[in-house]
Amino acid sequence: MRAAVPGDEVELAALDSLVNPSPWTAEQFVDACREQEDRYECALVMVCDEQPEGFVVYSRVLDEACIHNIAIRPAMQGAGLGQLLLTAALARLREAGAARCCLEVRESNMAAIGFYRRLGFESGGVRRNYYTTAAGREDAVLMSRQLIEQEC
Ligand SMILES: CC(C)(COP(=O)(O)OP(=O)(O)OC[C@H]1O[C@@H](n2cnc3c(N)ncnc32)[C@H](O)[C@@H]1OP(=O)(O)O)[C@@H](O)C(=O)NCCC(=O)NCCS
Repeated sequence: MRAAVPGDEVELAALDSLVNPSPWTAEQFVDACREQEDRYECALVMVCDEQPEGFVVYSRVLDEACIHNIAIRPAMQGAGLGQLLLTAALARLREAGAARCCLEVRESNMAAIGFYRRLGFESGGVRRNYYTTAAGREDAVLMSRQLIEQEC
């Protein structure tokens, strides 16, 4: 596992297009692949034989963190890679001072909702008609979890 670097954008977009109904373009990965400290997004990439098998894109503003995208190559799903990537991202976010992490997921994506629940995220609301689908639109489920214990 390593941080994304300039030049990863095209391969990350190709991987995303295998699993995401609204895949990101290579342009959308540019910020997360920058090496400058002032970038808004960060990405971790799981690489095997020089090919990305998975990635996670996340951000932090003060103590609020957000997971923007995560994908594992279909043939590699269910083998624990997603858990490794997300756990590593959450550890980095916690270390950087994030107290809470949130994300949005399609309400039809039961696999991802199950995955996030397993990693401690809880549903906390709905964003109506947030995503486009072939048939129209669908809601986003809002999920979040604490990253550090709150003091009483
Ligand atoms: C969702 C995704 C990132 C999970 O990654 P993964 O490597 O397949 O998941 P892991 O093997 O690390 O699974 C970790 C835990 O999540 C849960 N989980 C994983 N897949 C699941 C599924 N299909 N249904 C229910 N729970 C699931 C399991 O509890 C698993 O733990 P266990 O094996 O000890 O029971 C991956 O399947 C993926 O890329 N999906 C397509 C893209 C996507 O939907 N991204 C999320 C957009 S919001």
